[in-house]
Amino acid sequence: MSVQIRPATVDDGPFLRAMLYEAAQWNTDWPLEPMDKVIANPITARYIEGWGRPGDAGVVAEVDGEPVGAAWYRLFDESAPGYGFVDASTPELSIAVARLHRRKGIGTALLRALIDRARADGHPALSLSVAPHNQSRMLYQREGFTKVGENRGAWTMRLDLRPH
Ligand SMILES: CC(C)(COP(=O)(O)OP(=O)(O)OC[C@H]1O[C@@H](n2cnc3c(N)ncnc32)[C@H](O)[C@@H]1OP(=O)(O)O)[C@@H](O)C(=O)NCCC(=O)NCCS
Repeated sequence: MSVQIRPATVDDGPFLRAMLYEAAQWNTDWPLEPMDKVIANPITARYIEGWGRPGDAGVVAEVDGEPVGAAWYRLFDESAPGYGFVDASTPELSIAVARLHRRKGIGTALLRALIDRARADGHPALSLSVAPHNQSRMLYQREGFTKVGENRGAWTMRLDLRPH
């Protein structure tokens, strides 16, 4: 299997939307809700609406030329924050891999590529929100994210990107 990681473009909006749906429906024990209903949640929609605005960046994983996963970040304002909001200068990341392609290292490759991008863009840190019993928490901890707070029962995690 050959996996390619490439930068996300404005045209990837619909695929990122599909991956946002996967991220929101992360628990495979839950009954599947329709995509439009899940993304109609105004806070969830904030992660993707108007994709391609200044500060947005992402990476897409492809297998045989087909997108199978994505990780991206965007800056939020305190008046319309994401679930893992830390401050207006810390982009918050979203990540998902299509179900058939999980546990093969693609999520790790996406996360590392996105962290490299955030560092190259000069961001001081990245944040995210994760349910404590979501196994993806292990992935974030392994890459250096630490818990900095809680919001609606989920952990807010942060990765410091500044050189020490
Ligand atoms: C989280 C996600 C992007 C990880 O992608 P992936 O390609 O499966 O990631 P990798 O194969 O690189 O590594 C996953 C690591 O995360 C952890 N992990 C993720 N899902 C897991 C699961 N279902 N069971 C056990 N460990 C899991 C493990 O530590 C694993 O490492 P290991 O395989 O060496 O044990 C993917 O599982 C996914 O899309 N999940 C649903 C959406 C989601 O939860 N998004 C994040 C919301 S905060």
